[in-house]
Amino acid sequence: MRDAMPARQVYLEGGDSGILLDVSDGDAVVAHWGSALPAPLPDASLLLPAVPHSMFDVPVRPSLVPQAARGWRGRPGIRGARDDGGSSSPLLVVDGVDADTRRAVVHLSGDGLALAITLVIDEHGILRADAELTNTGDDVYRLDALEVALPVPDRAAEILDYAGRWAKEKQEQRHAVRFGTWTREARHGRTGHDATGLLAVGTSGFGYGRGEVWGVHLGWSGDHEHRVERIGSGTTLVAAGELLHAGEVVLSPGESHRTPTLYAAHSTAGLDGVSARFHRHLRARPGHPRSPRPVVLNTWEAVYFRHDLGELSELAETAAELGVERFVLDDGWFLGRRRDTRGLGDWLVDPEVWPEGLGPLIERVEAHGMRFGLWVEPEMVNEDSDVVRQHPDWVSGPAGRRSVEWRSQQVLDLVNPEAFAYILGRLDDLLTEYPGIAFLKWDQNRDQTELASGGRSSTRAQTLAAYRLFDELRSRHPGVEIESCSSGGARVDLGILQRTDRVWASDTNDALERQLIQRGTQVLLPPELVGAHVGPPTAHTTGRTHDLSFRAITALIGHFGVEWDVRTASDRDRAELAAAIRFYKDHRELLHSGRLVHADDLDPSVSVTGVVADDGSEAVFVWAVLAASPAEVPAPMTLPGLDPERLYRVQLGLEVDARSTQDRRHPSWFPGPVDLTGAALADIGLPMPALRPEHAIVFEVTAVS
Ligand code: DGJ
Repeated sequence: MRDAMPARQVYLEGGDSGILLDVSDGDAVVAHWGSALPAPLPDASLLLPAVPHSMFDVPVRPSLVPQAARGWRGRPGIRGARDDGGSSSPLLVVDGVDADTRRAVVHLSGDGLALAITLVIDEHGILRADAELTNTGDDVYRLDALEVALPVPDRAAEILDYAGRWAKEKQEQRHAVRFGTWTREARHGRTGHDATGLLAVGTSGFGYGRGEVWGVHLGWSGDHEHRVERIGSGTTLVAAGELLHAGEVVLSPGESHRTPTLYAAHSTAGLDGVSARFHRHLRARPGHPRSPRPVVLNTWEAVYFRHDLGELSELAETAAELGVERFVLDDGWFLGRRRDTRGLGDWLVDPEVWPEGLGPLIERVEAHGMRFGLWVEPEMVNEDSDVVRQHPDWVSGPAGRRSVEWRSQQVLDLVNPEAFAYILGRLDDLLTEYPGIAFLKWDQNRDQTELASGGRSSTRAQTLAAYRLFDELRSRHPGVEIESCSSGGARVDLGILQRTDRVWASDTNDALERQLIQRGTQVLLPPELVGAHVGPPTAHTTGRTHDLSFRAITALIGHFGVEWDVRTASDRDRAELAAAIRFYKDHRELLHSGRLVHADDLDPSVSVTGVVADDGSEAVFVWAVLAASPAEVPAPMTLPGLDPERLYRVQLGLEVDARSTQDRRHPSWFPGPVDLTGAALADIGLPMPALRPEHAIVFEVTAVS
């Protein structure tokens, strides 16, 4: 129920995080976002900042949607105007609040606009915020931007965000918070390879397990930005919002625009603490994948476009012998698709390559006890396709010309109802004709900086239409799981994850690259949502060669799969791969439900990643040597996150190949299982062998007391 008179303040609390809003002055001022506040709550209206010389004559405080009309000199949360220039700096005043302990809607209005800001905090401490702006005036309102911001205290002094490119996504970068704006804009018509995912700010030197950290993420798969802004007053905000193109949002009287959801989390236990909140939040969703994540074999790096029933049947047989449970036929199965320049849009099984359709392959896959998956790229077309020859106007882009091609492809204009109906119909027919398709790898392989429909910018509309396509298909075929792939990891966000079951983190299967890509992706997503495959011995993207153990151990911290022509694997490699698959199956329940932890303060040439059961009873830890260290003797491996009081037995998870170490005493460095307390493992650690660079060891840790 909306209060007749606005409440003076609102406090929401969940998972020992809290946010305190002061609405006494008519604005949605954020007085606190961080740890939960014990009672009695402060009267936030008394905690007013100073009014120094040469400044506004009233205290200026940060609000959820900052207003220039209230003296906010950073970016205003609403940017837009009417055709006569009116309402460009609207003064909005709180006129009601609906609130309980976990959810609040603050209603503001003024200057012909009404704004409803919704905040929800869940039991895991994830705060979700969005804003809806309605034009209550008599003429159109052209909106340029609408976004929600959250203030952080001065002790949030360092920024951590992620950059990247194709085959090298989610690379960490750190810098100090300074006066000015640090903004990570992603203008790709999709989330983008360089999208930060999580943007975090924290106390100086914050790490995985230490420091106070605030993180934000925008759940949106189109153009967007994340930013940290420190204005002259000294106030720092973190914000994220959709980037709207000129003319994209024109609100007629009575029309509304709603932002994508901003997700935010705070932790006093470092970055892993923030991740734990996101992971728990995602795992609590009703649609979160519940079944054990099946071992995948994807055919892409095994055969590329060389589709042949005989070869693929052999591949399926070998895969099944190794323990694979899901066989995914990648690109190359549809009309004219012998290479990547043709066929996108013509979603009919190519009779030249598949004279009897996909049925025979699906039957063989199923006969080996596996489920079948298929690659599609529904949002794209090639110029060289029947669909574009018949409907050249179904290509998204500026009127009268084509946009620059990317991988010889263009974007299908999903905002056009006929094009939308066509592609929905083709996918629906495919899944109806082949009920054996249990999984779609849904790809999206290009940036598009000038999406337009009917001559009007349509990045937002295209993103929403793509969401509708996923949603409609899922409602018609609820049993089919979907992977979000976008030239690897260019569509990894919590918007797409509302309608998909995992992401493909990167097109590189090079285990060395994957170590950091998966780490950066899993800051936001739990391992079960992140596809991780064992590639061929020599990585196709980088030319590096790695032992099977490094490739397999790297893929363990994720949704495990294989992307390699395993028919060509040596007997030794097959045996090792089968052992790794058995290990994954034995531990996937833990790997996909436990708490992800990383050791801090390591020699930068190594990495320690663990997954610890929520009750502390068991864990899996991976020690990976990423580069040669200047130190002759490796530092002990510390194992964070275990119960300090309990005694644990630590043993090798998979055999260590003597050739992967430089240790002459091997394997005497690790005298079989050792029993140590969680405190000893965290503080003293385990002595490690001089492992050669680009090798890894996996440990099983089990509580014995
Ligand atoms: C890009 C994907 O990321 C790859 O895994 C593969 O599916 C190709 N597209 C197929 O064209």
